[in-house]
Amino acid sequence: MSRADLIQIAYLVAAVCFILGLKWLSSPRSARRGNQVAAVGMAIAIVATLIDSRVVDYAWIVIAAVVGGSIGAVIARRVQMTAMPQLVALLNGLGGGAAALIAISEYHAHGALGETSLGAVAAVSVMFSAVVGSVSFAGSLIAFGKLQEILPGRPITWPAQKVINAIIGIVILALAVWASVAVNDPVLWVAVGLALVLGAAAVLPIGGADMPVVIAFLNACTGLAAAATGFALGNVLLIIAGVLVGASGTMLTQLMSKAMNRSLTSVLFGAFGGGATGAASGGSGGEALPVLEISPADLAAQLVYARRVVIVPGYGLAVAQAQHPVRELADLLGERGVDVTFAIHPVAGRMPGHMNVLLAEADVPYDKLLEMEEANPDFPQTDVVLVIGANDVVNPAARDDPDSPLFGMPILEVDHAEHVVVFKRSMASGFAGVENMLFHDPKTRMLFGDARKSLTQLVQDVQAV
Ligand code: TAP
Repeated sequence: MSRADLIQIAYLVAAVCFILGLKWLSSPRSARRGNQVAAVGMAIAIVATLIDSRVVDYAWIVIAAVVGGSIGAVIARRVQMTAMPQLVALLNGLGGGAAALIAISEYHAHGALGETSLGAVAAVSVMFSAVVGSVSFAGSLIAFGKLQEILPGRPITWPAQKVINAIIGIVILALAVWASVAVNDPVLWVAVGLALVLGAAAVLPIGGADMPVVIAFLNACTGLAAAATGFALGNVLLIIAGVLVGASGTMLTQLMSKAMNRSLTSVLFGAFGGGATGAASGGSGGEALPVLEISPADLAAQLVYARRVVIVPGYGLAVAQAQHPVRELADLLGERGVDVTFAIHPVAGRMPGHMNVLLAEADVPYDKLLEMEEANPDFPQTDVVLVIGANDVVNPAARDDPDSPLFGMPILEVDHAEHVVVFKRSMASGFAGVENMLFHDPKTRMLFGDARKSLTQLVQDVQAV
């Protein structure tokens, strides 16, 4: 068997690992295994690529692998769970940039051979990869800057934005055609420069609240750019891996747009979503609406006599790192015969699966987690709902107020339960910056304070009842 055959077989094994990894990643129960299998697939792919006879110098590869691997390991260990979306944005951007650089170097090598035009497949692949990879690189860096609060989270707009972006897009297309028919490095460089401008200009007008959808979309773009690079290099594994990323990124974009009630076009061109969490205005006409509070001791008494309790976690649970006390509370109530479940909204928190990851860390059993569609029909038979650090995902305005920016977003209908208790520190609004009338509902009680502290106190009070 030749070395080339061996490489192709290794690529096939790696591709199977990627597909199995993705399949297993789709359930919290098997996600860890999925991640490990995909990592093994990636290791096989790297080794197979390194034994390729076209590799001429290992020194730079080793230096890059050591530097990149060390930075990756440090980041993976240090990053807070709440900062995961910006890390994904950054890594996605680097993927797009890498695809673009490979395409540019392939193009340059073509010119160095004295060719005056690319074949049709090579031309489309190289241009697509260089342009889309550059758009994804610049767009992802802007998304990173917004989420990291280096840049303002609000939409940054300027006159004739869409028209200017459209003109830049047309000029890039014309330059790409020019660079395809006559190999000319400077023409490609100008196209790449404009693609970087377009990536930044396309993401700047998008508000922080829509950033996760944008990142999923850019992720799909990076995947397709990598697949195009695979065509340019004649590398089957890169094509498969790129298409997998492209397809999963597209599906995630659709799922998240649906869960946030945003169409992709309105996300990309709508300039919506301030992102800053400001204090709510205090009700219509500026009048302060009534708010009823409850103490941990009173709540403890109410909970131990309840039959059914549903816990709705949100971003605040992650901020407070209150996953362990919340599990303790669920266990304690369970021991007293209370039926306790967790209702998970698809966009609760700041990244897909945020609440699942958090609760899995505290060993909350998966069969206690209900998805939104499962949880909603049961709220009318629920005695108490504990809304812990969640806000937008339980805002009834999304269902009832056509003027609300949230209108149409599916919510957890906690206001259908008999009693609602909201754990948060103040009356501040959530991520979308929209006031929540649930807090003023006569059946709602507020338990103000850091969720971890409130829950720790509540656990003690339940033990004392
Ligand atoms: P939010 O609407 O953002 O509300 C979180 C609440 O937690 C805030 O009202 C805040 O109120 C409270 N909080 C913060 N720190 C706390 C602490 N230490 N202790 C107690 N409470 C605390 O969260 P959500 O309901 O989970 O909704 C998610 C929002 O983010 C949606 O608008 C969604 O579209 C958006 N989004 C989602 C994602 C994904 S993919 N999940 C990504 C980005 C954006 P106080 O400040 O008064 O405490």
